[in-house]
Amino acid sequence: MSNFVFHRNSLAGSMVDALMGNGILDASSGLFLAAPRRTGKSTFLTEDLIPALKACDVLPIYVDLWEDRRVDPSVMIAGAIKKVIAGEIGLLSKAVRQIGITKVSTPVFSFDLDKIGREDGVTLKEALESLIQKRKKPVALIVDEAQHATTSDDGINAMFALKSARDTINSGGKHDLLLVFTGSHRDRLAKLVTNKDQPFFGARVTDFKLLGRDYCEAYTQWINKSIQPESRLAVEDVYVAFDIVGRRPEMLKNVVADAFLNYAGPLPKTKALLELAFEVEKNLSEEFSESFLALSPIQRAVLLRISSNKQGDDGLFSSSAMGSYAAITGSPATPSSVQSALRGLRDLNIVWKSANGAYETEDPFTERWLKHSRTEGGLKTSGDQKISPTPSDSDIEQQPGYGGEMFSIKKPPKG
Ligand SMILES: Nc1ncnc2c1ncn2[C@@H]1O[C@H](COP(=O)(O)OP(=O)(O)O)[C@@H](O)[C@H]1O
Ligand SMILES: [Mg+2]
Repeated sequence: MSNFVFHRNSLAGSMVDALMGNGILDASSGLFLAAPRRTGKSTFLTEDLIPALKACDVLPIYVDLWEDRRVDPSVMIAGAIKKVIAGEIGLLSKAVRQIGITKVSTPVFSFDLDKIGREDGVTLKEALESLIQKRKKPVALIVDEAQHATTSDDGINAMFALKSARDTINSGGKHDLLLVFTGSHRDRLAKLVTNKDQPFFGARVTDFKLLGRDYCEAYTQWINKSIQPESRLAVEDVYVAFDIVGRRPEMLKNVVADAFLNYAGPLPKTKALLELAFEVEKNLSEEFSESFLALSPIQRAVLLRISSNKQGDDGLFSSSAMGSYAAITGSPATPSSVQSALRGLRDLNIVWKSANGAYETEDPFTERWLKHSRTEGGLKTSGDQKISPTPSDSDIEQQPGYGGEMFSIKKPPKG
């Protein structure tokens, strides 16, 4: 069985339009996309966005900063540019050879590729400019897990260099250097655009659209092709299971595989699928429950306040907020203790600060866990009691979100 890939051509097309300044959404200053881990960002970039860019004669340069976390992000970015330039040189010299000249008499690029971005070499801007000039076509630099660049000084400098390259290369309304940044750590990605001293201040982070029902339809059809009619899956069940596992294709794949492995014969796969999806969710819940209990009492209290939608700085620092923290933790809270709790929650990738200053939970799963735990009344913010908010089968009907938009995409922040 070959691998199943669900393509999203129209989403890719609208992003290309936005990058070229032709769309309703204008991303000509850079496109910043955020979504939780393992939800399909890299797959979308390589399977859909890059082909769409190529179809528009844009040369893509792709780099995943998480590919090797031991390598400095600036080195990864320079390496990706180098690789593409080297490829271009190969193509150009091949073309020259084909017309009968065996040696390229003038250097195609007059700099040392190994020194791109280094003090003794050309800058990222010069390398990109040169590439665009030689090729006479736009270049798109796609940096996957771009927030990782902020983990080193050189990485941050590389981001500033890209911003400066964009400003120079695109001056006069041109769209020759397109920038795409994605991130699984929304807060760190957002920092690149929301902090005044950060390179892309003024841009905004867009929620990357998670896979949805159309994905489940295509996936179910694909699976059913190799299954006996009596055991075939129903789209509705697959969709419910997909939602439960946080819209992560890999987890759905495992759940489906287990449903077939564990339940031989034509029994209702629906039941098997849902049971297994809830099993996965239970494990995730237990994991999160442990993380929740590992937080400090004030961090837990602040997280609860954020998830109860009392958002914005004021909401978190108001006297009523301070009162609620004290009631939960049993000791008085101060603005600085709340501030440091927030810092900790942001570092842990549990909450992020949006462009309009509101704090939000990073992962829809966290949000659901907190809401469920609250309604169950089982949330303790101190002590060591385990919390298991995993819903029972009967919850499926009661909780509209389980069949619907539990993981609906958050609206992009205002401003
Ligand atoms: N459109 C898709 N069709 C099929 N499988 C997908 C799709 N998108 C993601 N996946 C699968 O989900 C897993 C995680 O995807 P990935 O793109 O690596 O996520 P991310 O970059 O957001 O962490 C991979 O195993 C991938 O094959
Ligand atoms: Mg990825």
